[in-house]
Amino acid sequence: MENEKLGFLLSTFIAVTLTLFVCAILFFSTTLFSVMGDKHKSHGEETLVVENVLNGQELMTKSDCFICHKTEGKLIGPSFVEIAEKYEDNSENVSLLVRKIKLGGSGTWGDAPMTAHPQLERDNVKAMLQWIFDLKGKTVTASEHELALHPVGFGDVDPVKKGEQILNTQCAPCHQTGGVGKIGVAPSIRNRDFLALASDDFIKETIRRGREGTSMVPRPDLSEEDLDAVVAYLRSSWIPLPLDIKVDPSVKYSGDPQQGHITYQTYCASCHGENGDGYISGGVGPGIGLKGFLNVASDDYIFKTVENGRVGTAMRAFVGSRGLANLEKEDVYNIISFLREQASKNESKNGR
Ligand code: HEC
Ligand code: HEC
Ligand code: HEC
Repeated sequence: MENEKLGFLLSTFIAVTLTLFVCAILFFSTTLFSVMGDKHKSHGEETLVVENVLNGQELMTKSDCFICHKTEGKLIGPSFVEIAEKYEDNSENVSLLVRKIKLGGSGTWGDAPMTAHPQLERDNVKAMLQWIFDLKGKTVTASEHELALHPVGFGDVDPVKKGEQILNTQCAPCHQTGGVGKIGVAPSIRNRDFLALASDDFIKETIRRGREGTSMVPRPDLSEEDLDAVVAYLRSSWIPLPLDIKVDPSVKYSGDPQQGHITYQTYCASCHGENGDGYISGGVGPGIGLKGFLNVASDDYIFKTVENGRVGTAMRAFVGSRGLANLEKEDVYNIISFLREQASKNESKNGR
């Protein structure tokens, strides 16, 4: 009995000592680790902030922000330092400003509108805002100021980069990022076969004048330099055709519009619309019967498009034994005559 009691006391003693010992180890190690952890954490936060600054600013130079904003000093929009002073960095303001950047709007700083940026990812917009918020109370160094005024990837730098930027901000809503096009919305403008047939002037004229009756709006506001940059970008990754296909804009083909109408209905209307209205009539292809297209497209451009098709799109080659429909050249001349007659009929019908 005595022994048992002793044994119990002894084991309790050992257990208590052990527990204390373990506790002590745990206590010291957690304190130790937490000290190390703190160090680690603060280091991590530091790099995180630095990354954010770089990312936010980089993203903004890749987008169009610095066209209208400077870091310091008003341009079309308020300076980013001003914005940083006005808004506290809290979740409410972040949501508010993310919305404003994505949807655009005016009235907070004046009448000038801020354009919409629907294509920007929410997380990227947040990174941009982080960079803006971090400007609060900061004096902008000369080199930072310089970088903001002449951001990498914009302005006097590489025209291909500039063209890419214009395309991905102003054309991508319809032509998609990189200009790959979207069926039923807008054609692919970085397509190999399109670029083989379309001259630089054709492309620039199309952008300048738009395509009447379609969502391709005219852009007379883009400078010659901007248009050259867009063309440079479109052609930057283009691999020219192995065979030399040239469009001769001076050639005119004459055909029979009545016959052309029949052939058109059979082979083309399903995609380009009954009257060549294209996307607006629910077609998957562009409005090749509209004068906006026919005014800039030569007969030979149309012919060569139908003869060769456009790789990677619904537009196939239709002429000859390799073509989808084995059409004769004359069939295409007839179609061209039909389209041109149709367009002038539409024009006089609308009293234009
Ligand atoms: C076409 C010119 C233009 C472009 C491009 C532009 N902004 Fe703005 N931005 C403005 C104008 C103008 C305002 C002031 C709008 C107002 O008064 O409500 C503004 C306001 C802002 C504000 C403050 C919004 C508010 O309600 O106070 C933020 C933040 C901002 N812009 C960020 C950006 C970012 C980021 C980009 C690039 C993704 C960008 N802006 C691109 C013109 C532009
Ligand atoms: C299966 C659908 C389809 C059919 C059928 C079709 N096309 Fe197309 N066509 C397209 C698409 C789609 C495009 C635009 C390609 C792109 O998205 O880049 C196009 C482009 C064109 C273009 C160039 C237009 C421009 O804006 O540069 C011409 C010209 C053309 N087609 C003529 C015809 C003719 C003539 C026929 C009948 C012989 C025909 N197509 C039949 C789908 C079609
Ligand atoms: C709102 C939509 C929209 C926007 C934005 C837009 N486009 Fe278009 N674009 C179209 C449509 C639709 C067509 C085809 C029109 C037709 O039916 O002929 C087109 C046609 C074109 C063509 C002729 C392609 C061909 O196959 O003949 C070029 C080049 C072009 N766009 C360039 C641009 C550039 C560059 C921008 C930006 C500066 C731009 N577009 C912005 C909708 C748009």
